[in-house]
Amino acid sequence: MTNKEFEFVEIYPNIIVYKNVFENPTKMYDIVKNSSEVEGEQVFGEWSEWSIFGQYINYPAGTSFNRDWSYKNLQTIETHNQVQEDQKYFLLELAEGFDKVTDHYISKFGKDFDFDKTESIETKDGDSIPLWRMYGPSICKYHKNMEDVMSMTYHSDFIREPIPSPGYKFAITANAYFNEDYVGGEIDFFVNGELIKYKPEAGDWLLFPSGHPDVLRKGDTVYLHGVFPSYENEKYFARMYWRKYSVGSQEWFDKENEFGKEVWASMQNDIIQEYNKTIPNRFEIPEGVRVK
Ligand SMILES: [Fe+2]
Repeated sequence: MTNKEFEFVEIYPNIIVYKNVFENPTKMYDIVKNSSEVEGEQVFGEWSEWSIFGQYINYPAGTSFNRDWSYKNLQTIETHNQVQEDQKYFLLELAEGFDKVTDHYISKFGKDFDFDKTESIETKDGDSIPLWRMYGPSICKYHKNMEDVMSMTYHSDFIREPIPSPGYKFAITANAYFNEDYVGGEIDFFVNGELIKYKPEAGDWLLFPSGHPDVLRKGDTVYLHGVFPSYENEKYFARMYWRKYSVGSQEWFDKENEFGKEVWASMQNDIIQEYNKTIPNRFEIPEGVRVK
């Protein structure tokens, strides 16, 4: 299928691969790969450790630049050398690509989950804020020597909580991939009893439901995904999201009153850790029926 400039394939209901979005995927790969080696001033921030999987740069426009992730704003990044010029180009391509593919995805599926970019919601404190907000990006690379069966176990990007907190919750995931010169590295979806494997190609955008219970369920289930280890070369990609604001549960605010806001917030790490032990992510899903 084509859509003027880019092409898309729905590899499974609500999981879409977009191609020909980037002007020059090879250039994108070179820029991101070289960013850990080039000397002198860069636009990108520092690579940090990303759990046991690899490394990542959160908000790659750098710590000193403002956090408004829009094409128009990113155009104002000042550059003084070729490296900065290239990295700015990379970010502009990423921002433009995100808008293109998410606009398309939402025009296709948005009515199923009442997506409206202009809608507002009132927080518990009475502030009016956008119901939907984009989040990201981070640029990531997976190590090439993972020893586990999966680089990432089956999970939803939507974070499950025993007591729902107020805040923006992951709804739609948009990943952009920059290379394919590694072995393995497939993403594997588990949806409604079925497994769907896909090996990203350089320049792909892959859009799928983040596993938010309000957004594009299939049957009684949400979308889960895991990632197989990649070998021989590092695997590079960027991740971005649309998130939906949730006002939070009454129980959450009762606990805030009971413990005080700050203490309750500081207790969350332990609470989530204990909760996750009761719903562990799996390395394999033996009952899943592979359809791709
Ligand atoms: Fe994920």
